[in-house]
Amino acid sequence: MLQFCRPAAYSRGVRTRVTEKFGIEYPIFAFSHCRDVVAAVSRAGGMGVLGALYFTPEELELELKWIDEHVGGRPYGVDVVMPAKYEGAELGDAQALMTKLQSMIPEAHRRFVDELLAEHGVEPLSDEGAGRYLLGWTDATARPQVEVALKHPIALLANALGPPPADVVEQAHEHGVTMAGLASNARHARKQVDVGVDVIVAQGTEAGGHTGDVSTMVLIPEVVDAVGESTIVLAAGGIGRGRQIAAGLALGAEGVWTGSIWLTVDEADTPLPARGKLLAASSRDTVRSRSWTGKPARLLKTAWTEAWESERSPGTLPMPMQFMLISDALRRIGRSGDGELTTYPVGQIVGSMNQVKPAAQVVYDLIEEYVEAVERLAAITEG
Ligand SMILES: Cc1cc2nc3c(=O)[nH]c(=O)nc-3n(C[C@H](O)[C@H](O)[C@H](O)COP(=O)(O)O)c2cc1C
Repeated sequence: MLQFCRPAAYSRGVRTRVTEKFGIEYPIFAFSHCRDVVAAVSRAGGMGVLGALYFTPEELELELKWIDEHVGGRPYGVDVVMPAKYEGAELGDAQALMTKLQSMIPEAHRRFVDELLAEHGVEPLSDEGAGRYLLGWTDATARPQVEVALKHPIALLANALGPPPADVVEQAHEHGVTMAGLASNARHARKQVDVGVDVIVAQGTEAGGHTGDVSTMVLIPEVVDAVGESTIVLAAGGIGRGRQIAAGLALGAEGVWTGSIWLTVDEADTPLPARGKLLAASSRDTVRSRSWTGKPARLLKTAWTEAWESERSPGTLPMPMQFMLISDALRRIGRSGDGELTTYPVGQIVGSMNQVKPAAQVVYDLIEEYVEAVERLAAITEG
């Protein structure tokens, strides 16, 4: 078994309201869809948060059971996506919603996707996985995930793409679970606080996945000031080095929330073609694109994202129809290993993701560099 090196500098300690609240050593949150990463980060002293989006309630149950058995009693969280706005939101039932939305996808869009794949020689596949198109990003599909999550000893429930419904916040609190919400501007952060969210993840435009247009550097102080002292703020977007943790804390956050950097750790289940591209990419190789879900998300810039921006593009569809349109295509691209079309949600920090390391080592390296940064600042500050 590999031995990881805990930072000697840790003897200095990192204590914020976040470490106190959750009983963790380092105020580092790791968002991942991969249970191994979640458990590894929590065991290393941070807090892993499992993205529930891709799991059916039954699968989520299995994932959380596994985490419970492998997390060594350390705290972890679950993240769901209940968008405040999406097409067909008035239809509560997931099956009715899917049938209606499938019928609304224009033929021209289907043709565009088929032609694009054909041009790249990507073969059709069997329809295994069909029926999963909606994923967890509707109220109807995310609620059962919340129900499963709250049956486990989670410490945190996070929600993205708008304030969570008030009753979900209530349920979380009844279970003694802290509620977190992602926000990409100060107004949205305030709305989250108004429905009872305890922790705001202020996520700058640099971030991978769905993201707004304000940079982390500008956003964090704005959100910290907007929500006031009683609300804890975590800095997210572009954080992959200890110096960036120091910056986030200097801007007023009490911890950091990271996503991209876990895509290339040893434990990650990121498909190999995408992993190779992430390791080779520079910080200029991402783009904010609606081509994944219909809402702007930062992705690796490839022939896929470029095609959706080109003159022949029919334009993207609203969430959740865009993903319904393309989910088969993504699987086909993944299986074919096509290097040109392969894309993945990732942030600008991808330019620093050049080495594959165990997740625990990434946690320790982050803390070591954070402490060095803080000491350097202390040394240049006149007493
Ligand atoms: C591959 C990937 C998928 C993501 N999916 C979700 C998601 O389902 N729910 C969510 O709240 N955030 C999601 N995010 C955003 C992360 O929670 C986090 O806020 C973001 O990655 C932070 O910025 P960074 O990528 O620069 O570390 C995703 C990020 C990535 C990279």
